[in-house]
Amino acid sequence: MKYSKFILIICAGVVLSLGASEAKKAIEKRIAPVGSVCVQGQDCGTAVTEAVVSTSGSRGGEEVYTNACATCHNIGLAGAPKFADASSWGARPDKGIEALTASVKNGLNGMPAMGMCMDCSDDELSSAVQHMLDSI
Ligand code: HEC
Repeated sequence: MKYSKFILIICAGVVLSLGASEAKKAIEKRIAPVGSVCVQGQDCGTAVTEAVVSTSGSRGGEEVYTNACATCHNIGLAGAPKFADASSWGARPDKGIEALTASVKNGLNGMPAMGMCMDCSDDELSSAVQHMLDSI
């Protein structure tokens, strides 16, 4: 009888310490992301992100159009020829893709230079123009 009480206390101690170490692990797991927060100025794997972006290559005409040109060309803002509305384009398509792309690049009256796609390459502008021409 004397010993059984003693053993019980030991058992309880083991269970408690096991429980405590489990709890400690759980806490360590929860605070782990804090330890991996990226501090400004550190190399935090941005090189990998940039590599992914650059391999994605040039954007397609539809993507450029939607992001940069649609604001004006969907509704014909400031007299802009409208997407999928041939009559608003008049004779513009006759200028050809190169001249039209040049208009976008340099700006034309109500259209700001680059059609507001400041990071667009010539190819991307040209694809966007082609996307518009395909719609009419
Ligand atoms: C802020 C409004 C605005 C944005 C943004 C805009 N445009 Fe325009 N765009 C215009 C207006 C206005 C005209 C008509 C200019 C004129 O002939 O007076 C025009 C004309 C054009 C023309 C005909 C040019 C010509 O020589 O007749 C093309 C092609 C064109 N836009 C393509 C684009 C593309 C591609 C983008 C996006 C990369 C874009 N635009 C973004 C307003 C805009």
